[in-house]
Amino acid sequence: LDQSQIYPDYLQTPLCIFGTGDLGFSLGRRLLQSGYRVVYGSRRPHSCGPLPPGTQVMSHGAAAQSANLVFICIHRENYGFLETLLPELRGKVLVDVSNNLKKNQYPEANAEYLQRLVPGAHVVKGFNTLSAWALQNGPSDANRQVYLCGNSAEAKQTVAETATKLGFTVLDRGSLSAARELEDFPLQLFPEWRMPLRLAVGLTAFFFFYLLIRDVIYAYVEQQKDISFRIMVSLANKVFPIVSLIMLSLCYLPGVIAALLQLYRGTKYKRFPDWLDRWMLCRKQLGLVALAFASLHVLYTLLIPIRYYVRYKVAASTISQIKENRTSEFDTAIAWRTDSYYSVGILGFGLYLLLGITSLPSVSNALSWREFSFIQSKLGYVTLLFCTLHTYLYGWNKFLRPSTYKWYTPPGYMLSLIVPTVVLVVKLLLLLPCVDRTLTRIRQGWERTDPE
Ligand code: HEM
Repeated sequence: LDQSQIYPDYLQTPLCIFGTGDLGFSLGRRLLQSGYRVVYGSRRPHSCGPLPPGTQVMSHGAAAQSANLVFICIHRENYGFLETLLPELRGKVLVDVSNNLKKNQYPEANAEYLQRLVPGAHVVKGFNTLSAWALQNGPSDANRQVYLCGNSAEAKQTVAETATKLGFTVLDRGSLSAARELEDFPLQLFPEWRMPLRLAVGLTAFFFFYLLIRDVIYAYVEQQKDISFRIMVSLANKVFPIVSLIMLSLCYLPGVIAALLQLYRGTKYKRFPDWLDRWMLCRKQLGLVALAFASLHVLYTLLIPIRYYVRYKVAASTISQIKENRTSEFDTAIAWRTDSYYSVGILGFGLYLLLGITSLPSVSNALSWREFSFIQSKLGYVTLLFCTLHTYLYGWNKFLRPSTYKWYTPPGYMLSLIVPTVVLVVKLLLLLPCVDRTLTRIRQGWERTDPE
């Protein structure tokens, strides 16, 4: 049989891989599984270690000559020898898949350096965000995207076609000047999670020490009582919901600030300040961290009936009632108060979960823009309302009782109510028909012209 009868057109010419390390090996195997012919270029073609069965290995020069597309799976430090292959690499498409160990390790991006070394070739940066593991196992839902950039549209097209045949989705990031950004990509450490996590740690630390002083140290100093055991559950079950409520309200605060700014400026065409933009961009992460804290609160709450301290207190009060031959009256107000705050808390937590689930990319991608904004915005405010109400109901009449304010300090949950209350009140004002109408007009492009 003639080769053209066995292989479809695009598989006639082999693809070449320079480098026989992990990444080269996995890439070769994937290409082979997708029906490509693969030729490796190696310094020592006869002793270069195991390679996927069915591939060929040759010297760098011979391998490059046999292919139009060469994947450079070697470290940047070893690129130097490519200068000796200028004639073989002329007009070829070189795919730079390299990564560095640190950001800004070199003055120019690896791909730009490669292009400088081999000016006659068309360098395309790509595949570097995939691990050898992802390549070997094929694309999965979470790992489908391949970023490409390069100066030649034709070369990018060739690489994009190969990536598509391997089952990846290609995102074109423009010219080779974007290479540094792509090379920094795998080195990022949760950039959009940084601010929410720092905030969570900061608020947790603040409220922990605040409550430690108010609850444990106060009892020790004023009543000579050691209740330090409360740190483990009681304190934790105050700090977590308090931080959660504040962080949830901080997801909605930038939205109301943005609306106030638009109303004040009378236009939507002025850019928001940088800090507000950055804040808006990490709302999802803020919300998810807040949800994690709320879940901890729910788990700690489940623990209340089985705590030794609680069981001891219940038994002690029963025994003392028997001894003193008295029964405490059933208090309907307490029943109403506790049932109400439990119920509103559960409803709030249910909606909180819904917000969290719909913010996951696989779910949010399946929603229309209107559905997404309905859940995240309208139901989001309802969630905040329920959680805030839960906390107000929990406080009930303690707001007015002087004994609540130990050492003249309010309890933590009262502090946690400040931001949510401000957000909800401002949101309510923004919903007033006259304000809402103006805001809608501004968002549709209308501009207020100030009288001269
Ligand atoms: C307090 C139950 C959800 C915020 C409490 C307390 C209980 C409780 C029993 C009193 C704890 C104590 O006496 O030490 C529940 C239940 C929930 C729920 C059953 C849902 C299944 C939420 C949610 C939030 C929240 C979603 C909002 C983030 C708070 C706050 C306090 C509190 C701020 C006051 C903490 C303090 O300083 O004592 N909740 N809750 N709760 N809850 Fe919830």
